[in-house]
Amino acid sequence: MKPSRGMSRRESLQWLGVGATTVAAGNLTSCQPQTEQPKSASAPVEPHESPQVIAERERRMKWWHAAKFGMFIHWGLYSVYGHHEWAMEEEGIPVAEYEQLAKQFKPQPRAARAWAKLARQAGQKYMVMTTKHHEGFCNFDTKLTNYCAPKQGPGRDLVAEYVEAARAEGRRVGFYYSLMDWHHPDGARCATDEAARQRFVEYTHGLVRELMTNYGKIDILWYDVDWPLDAKGWESEKMNGMVFKLQPDIIVNNRNGLPGDFSTPEQEIRATKAGRAWESCMTMNDSWGYQRADDNWKSAKTLVRNVVECAQGGGNYLLNIGPKGDGSIPVESVQRLTEVGRWMDKHGTTIYETERSQVDNSVMAGFTRKGNTLYVQVYNWPGSTVAVGGLRTKVSSAKLFTTGRKVDVKQEDLRVQFTGLPEKAPEEPVTTIEVESDGEPAQDTESVRKERPRRGVGI
Ligand code: GLC
Repeated sequence: MKPSRGMSRRESLQWLGVGATTVAAGNLTSCQPQTEQPKSASAPVEPHESPQVIAERERRMKWWHAAKFGMFIHWGLYSVYGHHEWAMEEEGIPVAEYEQLAKQFKPQPRAARAWAKLARQAGQKYMVMTTKHHEGFCNFDTKLTNYCAPKQGPGRDLVAEYVEAARAEGRRVGFYYSLMDWHHPDGARCATDEAARQRFVEYTHGLVRELMTNYGKIDILWYDVDWPLDAKGWESEKMNGMVFKLQPDIIVNNRNGLPGDFSTPEQEIRATKAGRAWESCMTMNDSWGYQRADDNWKSAKTLVRNVVECAQGGGNYLLNIGPKGDGSIPVESVQRLTEVGRWMDKHGTTIYETERSQVDNSVMAGFTRKGNTLYVQVYNWPGSTVAVGGLRTKVSSAKLFTTGRKVDVKQEDLRVQFTGLPEKAPEEPVTTIEVESDGEPAQDTESVRKERPRRGVGI
């Protein structure tokens, strides 16, 4: 199937292989991470790797696994236009017309400082900013094109400002980079014209080289959409080789046609098979880039649930903001991240450095885990008793996480009940019960269905 004019954005994204299910997180009904299909949408599952390669990846990814929660930032010329980052293609805007936005893009100085401050307050340990999105405009200084921030409206290197801001707030620094390019003359014809492919690959590797060279230590390289080439066409092995040579500690995602260090489910929470790192990236409304009319905001409660749900599956949550053209963050995003931050501030221990939880089934709670400690993250507070079915480990004690108040436990074969709790949720939007067990908490919901003694038909 080829992308056609009749194709919706979602369909063309699927065709592009970015796995873009546009399921708004607010609509997710299950709190259990689903297991990713063996074949990922954007890259093959990694081939057999040597123990050294695996150990080396573990070393590079240690901080990231502990971090759990990051801020994604989509910012570019589309932020000036305010119609979503796909506007250029969706509205069929001619390049010469779209380019005018480059002159109008005049952000406030050091706008990224407010983003980084908000990320810190929200408990987002790392940031990933668009250095170049599909529109082709480079937010950074480059010798390879004039279509870049210092030579256009902004008159300065916006990536440098971002890096400085993130570091000032102690956040790890990530660069998003879109391989697909709607502006470069070779951006589409590289698929059918070998000379164009060579030029475009040289350009692409050159831009990535600049990004990996000019900004000090970079923690994440987040490739996006590899249309219209594949890993061979992009010379992705060579590109990653260069990246690791320049940045030996960096981690890279899987969107340049190679498996990379982690998978990137988009707009959905989907755990990979154990052993493979993953990060769910998600919008707070339905747009990555600023779209002024998009008011489909997720609640702070949904966002906290999503953080929990990712941690439960051993993954990370990369939550997006789409600043306006002037660099300011939409107030709705600030409000929500502030609320999420209030929760994270008190409950961070139950998220950061947690491990994948085998216990994952409840309609009122999510679960995070550290060793034998299970954090029951109750988002639908039922009243004085919270029950979990099918817990196979013996519970030795429980308490309310924030106050340390002891919670009574009644454990039976097929369920455990935490009793004598307040009628009203002690913490909003999610209350945590900390549970100690005699081993790594395990749940078997099958046994509840199959083994619960049935009754006769006569009653
Ligand atoms: C998709 C979209 C893009 C967005 C990205 C984030 O690839 O094309 O607009 O930047 O997802 O994951």
